[in-house]
Amino acid sequence: MVYKKMLANLPCWCGSGKKYKKCHEAFDERIIAAEKEGHIVPSRKLLKTPEQIKGIRDAAVINRACLDEVAAKIRAGMSTQEIDDIVAATTKKMGGICATLGYEGFPKSCCTSYNDQVCHGIPSEEDILQDGDIINVDCTTILNGYYADSSRMFLIGDVDPEWKKLVDVTRECVEIGVKETVPWHYLGDMADAVNRHARAHGYEIVEEIGGHGCGNDFHEDPFVSYVTTPGTEMLMVPGMVFTIEPMINMGKHHVFVDEENDWTVYTEDGSPSAQWEVEILVTEEGHEVLCW
Ligand code: MF3
Ligand code: CO
Ligand code: CO
Repeated sequence: MVYKKMLANLPCWCGSGKKYKKCHEAFDERIIAAEKEGHIVPSRKLLKTPEQIKGIRDAAVINRACLDEVAAKIRAGMSTQEIDDIVAATTKKMGGICATLGYEGFPKSCCTSYNDQVCHGIPSEEDILQDGDIINVDCTTILNGYYADSSRMFLIGDVDPEWKKLVDVTRECVEIGVKETVPWHYLGDMADAVNRHARAHGYEIVEEIGGHGCGNDFHEDPFVSYVTTPGTEMLMVPGMVFTIEPMINMGKHHVFVDEENDWTVYTEDGSPSAQWEVEILVTEEGHEVLCW
C-alpha cells in the first residue's frame, strides 16, 4: 500500500486547517479503494496544493507568452537559433528561467524539432526554416521553483496538405486527451482515446517518449503513455498536474536518437512527425489547461 490515511481528528494534509475526517478522508478512501483493486494511484506528493497550483499558473503565463511571441515572428528564412533567442529574451524579460538550458546538459533555451525530427531538436544558426517545413517549438519555464511545459506546431509558408493534416490531427488528438482528462478515470482511458484518433488517420504514436507529471519539478511521475489500454495506468486524481504531448508520426512509430548530439530524436522511416503539448490540472469538476 502506498497511499495511507491519517488519524481522523488531525488537521488535514491539504493544509485547509479542517479536521481530516471533515476534509480529505472520503477522497483518500476513494484512492485506497482503487489501489486495493490493483490500480496505480498517485502518491500524495503528486497532488498539488492550492499554493503550488498558483505557482504553476504563474509560470505558465510566461511559457504561453514565449510561444505567442514565436508565433508572431516565425517565418521562412529564420534560423532555429533565432527562435531560441525569442524564447530566452521573453522568459528573461518576464523574470523566469528556461528550464531546458543546462537540463541534463541540453545546450539551449527551448527545443525546435522540424519535419522528421520527433523532439529534442537543438536550435542552431545553421538550421534555416524553409518554405514547406513544419516545426515544433517546446518551451519550459521555471518561475519561483514551479514548472510550466508546453509546445506548439508552426507551419512555414506553403505546407503540403498531407503534412498540414498531420499537424491538425495531432492537435485534435491533444484536444481529445484534454476532454478525456476526467477525475477518477484512468490515464489509460485518456491515452487510448488519443491513440484511436491517430490510428483512424493511419498515423502511429511514438511509444518510448511521452507525457509526464510536471509542476514542482520538470519531469515527475507518472509517465504518460499513449500506447496503452483503457482502465490501466494511473488514476487521475484532483490535484494532479501532467502533460499531454503525443508525438505522432505519419509513418511508423519507430524512432532513433542522433548519435552526434545524443539528443535529437528522428523517425526511423524519415516520415514527418508532429507534437502539441499542454500541461493540465485535474480538478474536482474536470480539468484546467494551464499551458498550451
Ligand atoms: N520540454 C520537453 C518535454 O516536454 C523536454 C525537453 S528536455 C530537453 O518534456 F532537455 F531536451 F530540453
Ligand atoms: Co513535457
Ligand atoms: Co515540453
